[in-house]
Amino acid sequence: HGTDANVAARVSVESHVRREPHLAAIEAQWGRAPGRHLSDGSSLFILGATFGNVFVGVQPAFGYEGDPMRLLFEAGFSPTHAFSAFYRYIREDFEADAVLHFGMHGALEFMPGKQNGLGEGCWPDRLIAELPNVYLYAANNPSEGALARRRGNATLISYLTPPLARAGLYKDLASLRQALDHLRALPPGHGDATGLAAAVQAQAVELDLASAEPAWEPASDELATLHLRLLELEGAVIPEGLHVVGQGMPLGARVELLGIIAGDVTATPIPPDVIRRVAEGETGCAALERSGLPQTGEMVALLENLAHANRHLAVDHEIPAIVRALDGCFTRPAPGGDVVRNPAVLPTGRNIHGLDPFSLPMSYALAEGARQAERLLARHMGDGNGLPESVAVVLWGADNLKSGGGPMAQVLALLGARPRMDSYGRLCGAELIPLERLGRPRIDVVVTLSGVFRDLLPLQTRMLAEAALLAATADEAPEHNYVRKHVLEHQAKAGSTIETAALRVFSNAEGAYGANVNQLVESGAWQEEDELAEAFTRRKCFAYGVNGPPVRQQDLLKAVLAGVDLAYQNLESAELGVLTTDQYFDSLGGVGRAARRARGDSATAPAVYIGDQTRGEGRVRTLGEQVALETRSRTLNPRWAESMLAHGAEGVRQIEAQVSNTLGWSATTAQVQPWVYREIARTYVLDEAMRDRLARLNPKASVKLANRLLEASERQYWSPDQETLAALQAAGDELEDRLEGVEARVA
Ligand code: BEZ
Ligand code: MG
Repeated sequence: HGTDANVAARVSVESHVRREPHLAAIEAQWGRAPGRHLSDGSSLFILGATFGNVFVGVQPAFGYEGDPMRLLFEAGFSPTHAFSAFYRYIREDFEADAVLHFGMHGALEFMPGKQNGLGEGCWPDRLIAELPNVYLYAANNPSEGALARRRGNATLISYLTPPLARAGLYKDLASLRQALDHLRALPPGHGDATGLAAAVQAQAVELDLASAEPAWEPASDELATLHLRLLELEGAVIPEGLHVVGQGMPLGARVELLGIIAGDVTATPIPPDVIRRVAEGETGCAALERSGLPQTGEMVALLENLAHANRHLAVDHEIPAIVRALDGCFTRPAPGGDVVRNPAVLPTGRNIHGLDPFSLPMSYALAEGARQAERLLARHMGDGNGLPESVAVVLWGADNLKSGGGPMAQVLALLGARPRMDSYGRLCGAELIPLERLGRPRIDVVVTLSGVFRDLLPLQTRMLAEAALLAATADEAPEHNYVRKHVLEHQAKAGSTIETAALRVFSNAEGAYGANVNQLVESGAWQEEDELAEAFTRRKCFAYGVNGPPVRQQDLLKAVLAGVDLAYQNLESAELGVLTTDQYFDSLGGVGRAARRARGDSATAPAVYIGDQTRGEGRVRTLGEQVALETRSRTLNPRWAESMLAHGAEGVRQIEAQVSNTLGWSATTAQVQPWVYREIARTYVLDEAMRDRLARLNPKASVKLANRLLEASERQYWSPDQETLAALQAAGDELEDRLEGVEARVA
């Protein structure tokens, strides 16, 4: 049928038209039934397969994914005919007693309608109707999970995120480390040092970790920097493979994960044999007694926490929880978050929740947010710039819910503001910190919120808008208050009210999510990078002020972005890097590209930074550094790749996603170095044995991966030599032939 999966059932057009109560709304968007999606013109296809009393279905896509015009211009929408028919099939034809959604980022709960308290006019409610909805959901995503619960009536059952491990060094990186260690161990003035320094430099140049000029002296700063970079790479925390529902985590993975948890919360290193004994089932106290470590209360608590985590990691809690929920029993609540930072998320198999929204941002987050804001400013200035006057910050729900509001606290700190609490200690707005206390000018911040943040944190959305307005109207000299400076300049030019000129909090229209930059990149259906900027600006130009509904303010957003010196977003979880999902380049890449276009071709592109607060002390990296780090510690790292390939087709899809997301960063920020593509091509496509493995495990994703590298070359994100390009094309053709062979066999 030309579909991606088995057709389990067909719904005739006649039946669809007769039974669809909202036919007119669907036809207004998607044309006469049955439309073009999942249809042969006379019926709609329901994808999936039936196993006795269980129907396993494939949820249809939104429908706009491959359509650049819709991605650019669509404001609201309705589900496709196929989408609505799919849920009606489950409800009325299959007559399911309950539905289990599996995974996350589903489409149902992002259909148009109210943010909560949904009713008959809202699409998620029309689709799910009275069907009990159990949703197996990632334990570390309480924000989108909350949307699934509020908008999709879901009972969440948390599942564990993948095991984590340290990246380690491999191949030439490992030999570089050895050579460097050897050099560093030489006594000062040793006769071999000069030659060895040159050899280390040459190796580092080969690995794109250094430039050939000037020549390195023994004990030079360059060697010290290289050492730090190798340590960072070696210690980077990466996901190792995927979690499998129904399986406890194996002993080896538990040892590694417990070691990472322990390393994160204490400065005293816990010896590996102690961690191992806990992983093997010893109680925290017993392990501590035998360890020779100081028996402080803190240590006892740490080891007991590790033992608690270990007990729950070792066994499956998820399938029993699904069965209980389907039996109509109560599902116990649990906080959502990362196992590394908050072992209370264990055991999984529980209904995840976020935080009391009145309590954000918490005081510890305000303190850390202020420090991280200063780190960001220091990094930007350390890169040879002045103090930025204006910055663009992306805020998500997930990172804020999991850190007590850390990222929003960073925004407040940049503005020189803090939350205002009522007499019950609940958040009710913002107030300014006096300039004398702040000790630097107020930085102008334009915030772009994910739709998820906007839905979950309306009080905080208003708090940020109020902070910007207070700064704009403060009786302060513009050279000490860049918000006011820019607002007055804009008013003079545009003649708007100060309330309008001071709008700094932007997001989607109500009921809409995402910038669609990711969808455009995924489809490849775009010519100029400016189209990505346009999609971002159109989707994210709804200004959220101190009162009233959001207002479309596209020109204002462009004007504010034109002044932006840097764009910034926090990473929220060790599991998710900027290359793991397409959401980071959609939001941060999107705003960076939009700012770049707003500034005009002649101006320099705004810097793009990542705040890494996933573990320990916060760090700031340039986007280019972050992409390089993840490329080396994950994409090119055999430890990561093999752990993915062990999961077959899905593992190959994850590898392909890393590559497609890499292209997303080139398209939006141009900060990806050409070596990244060269090494990916060498590792996955030009290596015959690896190419064969990918093609056998997942022919479709292997074709896509090869085509992404060719697309990157066509878009001049790298320039392979003729020979490499020809080899890549030949490999791509071979992979396409193999895919066609598989498809022909299936047909
Ligand atoms: C959020 O939590 O805001 C979010 C999560 C995933 C994708 C985009 C946004
Ligand atoms: Mg997606």
